[in-house]
Amino acid sequence: MALQRLDKIIASAGRYSRREVAERVRRGEVLVNGAPARTAAQKADPEVDVIAVSGETVVWKAVRWIMMNKPSGVLSATEDRRDSTALDLLPEEYRRMGLFPAGRLDKDAVGLLLLTNDGTYAHRVISPGSHVWKEYYVETEGTLRPEHCREMERGIRLKDMQCLPAGLEILQTEGPGKALVTVREGKFHQVKRMMAALNCPVLFLKRLAIGGLRLDEALAPGQWKELTEEEAESVFRPGSEGKTPDAVKLNK
Ligand code: URA
Repeated sequence: MALQRLDKIIASAGRYSRREVAERVRRGEVLVNGAPARTAAQKADPEVDVIAVSGETVVWKAVRWIMMNKPSGVLSATEDRRDSTALDLLPEEYRRMGLFPAGRLDKDAVGLLLLTNDGTYAHRVISPGSHVWKEYYVETEGTLRPEHCREMERGIRLKDMQCLPAGLEILQTEGPGKALVTVREGKFHQVKRMMAALNCPVLFLKRLAIGGLRLDEALAPGQWKELTEEEAESVFRPGSEGKTPDAVKLNK
């Protein structure tokens, strides 16, 4: 196993954040093979070295990030008695890794679903304070008009909540609507509710991007791939709220 930073190894076990690890290293509470760690950046081999924090041995697990092109009809959940879930689409060995979706997609929605076994990472993706932009391609009943864009930019008022300003880029100006929607919150049925408030109910919803991470359009519905740490971190790339490049296909 390649050497990794101590704070990364310990944080991946889920109990301490990297900042907390640094604090405990300073207090001399982190031991590597019985010797106090010098810094949180110190390297160790998680499969060989015995690491302990405040007297407890760290049980290490390899952090995984999966990009899936979720098909319609599949739940973004780990298990369900009736319906098939995103986890069911993974091979047996991956189903034992403690993976779960970092952010939901409705059963009938398709596109980019992130799965991870890193609770800290998932929290950074999902937590409302992170303001990670999500981009969706939508098809709607009813024609989309420029005033809808302005309403989205002002922030849609729903019965029970005030939405943050969102983006609407209309791709089809006549007949049923086709558009890109960008939102930076992830409340239940958020995009569907926003579009319904504009009298343009969603007929089709596909997530194209989470922050700077775009769906790999080479993945057919139901297919998935592992991401590198760098790819997973691209979610948080500053300025990643940009529009979908023309090259991105909108095929279902
Ligand atoms: N907004 C929705 O309405 N549904 C989703 O699945 C994601 C965002």
